[in-house]
Amino acid sequence: LSQIEIKLGDIPEGKNMTFKWRGKPLFVRHRTEKEIATEEGVNIAELRDPQHDKDRVINPSWVIVLGVCTHLGCVPIANAGDYGGYYCPCHGSHYDASGRIRKGPAPLNLEVPFYEFPDDDTVLVG
Ligand code: FES
Repeated sequence: LSQIEIKLGDIPEGKNMTFKWRGKPLFVRHRTEKEIATEEGVNIAELRDPQHDKDRVINPSWVIVLGVCTHLGCVPIANAGDYGGYYCPCHGSHYDASGRIRKGPAPLNLEVPFYEFPDDDTVLVG
């Protein structure tokens, strides 16, 4: 199936859930207020792949990214690493709670797929 429909009510605040989409892991993260404030406050001049949090999300409560490390494609672990977002154990890449690369060998931020919210409780990816 090229599109996946996910019910957001099943994902509690602070939790990241992994789905399978087009043969790849897809992360859907329900961010806390604290995570949102932290990521919105990051100085993008300090980033390897400079992107404001606002340019990576539609609704700040939800981060939707591919769970594929941009180094060599391993699946990062959620809520781990020095920046509290994702940590890739293969060679030690640390991503923040916006999915942006912050430390380690990965060159780019986690990819944001095309998605939309047809209603308050649903995200449609693809
Ligand atoms: Fe993730 Fe190398 S594949 S750090």
